[in-house]
Amino acid sequence: PHAKSGVVRKYRDRLPGIPDGAIVSLGEGDTPLIEAPRVSELAGARVYLKFEGANPTGSFKDRGMAVAMSRALAAGNRACVCASTGNTAASAAAYAARVGIRCFVVVPAGGVALGKAVQVLAHGARIVQIEGSFDEALRLSRRAAAELDGVALVNSVNPDRIAGQKTAAFEVCEALGRAPEALAIPVGNAGNITAYWKGFCEWSGPAPRMLGFQAAGAAPLVLGRAVERPETVASAIRIGDPASREGALRAVGESGGEINAVTDAEILEAQALLARAEGVFCEPASAAAVAGLLKLAREGRSPGGTVVAVLTGHGLKDPDAVKSRAELPEPVPADFGALAARISGETEP
Ligand code: F0G
Repeated sequence: PHAKSGVVRKYRDRLPGIPDGAIVSLGEGDTPLIEAPRVSELAGARVYLKFEGANPTGSFKDRGMAVAMSRALAAGNRACVCASTGNTAASAAAYAARVGIRCFVVVPAGGVALGKAVQVLAHGARIVQIEGSFDEALRLSRRAAAELDGVALVNSVNPDRIAGQKTAAFEVCEALGRAPEALAIPVGNAGNITAYWKGFCEWSGPAPRMLGFQAAGAAPLVLGRAVERPETVASAIRIGDPASREGALRAVGESGGEINAVTDAEILEAQALLARAEGVFCEPASAAAVAGLLKLAREGRSPGGTVVAVLTGHGLKDPDAVKSRAELPEPVPADFGALAARISGETEP
């Protein structure tokens, strides 16, 4: 068959045990590694974009969710719960619908981008908006899974999620024929940087330097302490107390990498550059990785060599991030002369 069979079938020998009958897939993984000539020029390195927005629900979360949901099904769970800034929620909602179990997502009220909230509703998951942060939502979700019967926790504190997400590192190595010199990745709850590092360590050959980037207003790993009220335009990584802090610190420590902060202005500038000069539309959190590479280059600290930047989520997830900066123009009469004048005016040599 030509159907994309997903990460569980492709990497089964490298994943936790899953019985045949419990394999769940929406065709996740196998995402494109896209050359980025304009970004490369500015970053002083040969930059490739691992476009995780091409996954079934539009983010990297689908890799881990395929494994976690397969395992939850095999274990006989009737429901799942997760805390989320939106993408985990959208992914859990889709995979739970596929499996036929109930899905409860706990989110910070008003803190989830429109596209992600709509996905949760579309898939029929139950959304619980709390008057609190992601970090509080995670504490509550962990407790719900621990104390309520038959409810699986599908956040990345569940090792099945990390196991699924490490498959992206395998794909990068397969596509390049080796690991890159550096990997640039946004960091929120720190599960993904932990997962990539695990994947690179399990692959034979040298591993990349791990370069993590947080938003300046939500940078607990740069500051070395939790942030009570994280704030950034990149709502996906608006997290003040990352659950996988140790994994992130190990990844940068063992790889000779580092974690840096980028401002919201730098994030939005990188998002626009990717969309306008490379034709790749990612959400703000994803652009933090590229913003970080550009910042290192400006500081004369470009990693050089071949660098992969992980674009974790699709730009369509967060329409307001673009719409708030670029209004649609008013309608005009359906008049060819006006259109022709407009086109000619903007295409003069
Ligand atoms: N990029 C996007 C688009 C994300 O949605 C997230 C996390 C990250 C980066 C950071 O990954 O947390 O593993 O360090 N989103 C989670 C969620 C928190 O609930 O969707 P991380």
